[in-house]
Amino acid sequence: MTDEIGRPAPGTPLCRLEEIADPGAKGFDYREGDRLWSGFVVRNGECVRGYLDQCPHAGSPLGDMIGRYLTRAGDLIICSAHGALFRIEDGACIAGPCAGDRLQPWPVTVEGGMVTAG
Ligand code: FES
Repeated sequence: MTDEIGRPAPGTPLCRLEEIADPGAKGFDYREGDRLWSGFVVRNGECVRGYLDQCPHAGSPLGDMIGRYLTRAGDLIICSAHGALFRIEDGACIAGPCAGDRLQPWPVTVEGGMVTAG
């Protein structure tokens, strides 16, 4: 279950921008005790957006076993559990069992080529 426990503090370096495919996404897991916090970021050019890795439908992680978060076209986020589709720019679900709901944002910044938790 994803919540605030284990969430990286603002300013925590996540990765270099070039480590994320363009377009592409990358997941991050942080453990604190027995709790796991998971988020992911989506890159489109120099723009990177972050979301908690928890689908509003059934609470599952969105990524699949090999860490894919996007459709083949790279234009939408897809939940690997039941196929809900989300807009990259605002996390709004546009199709699937949680249509009308949205992903919880995880603020991230890019400075000097480094993606950092906000
Ligand atoms: S858990 Fe994501 S669509 Fe069901």
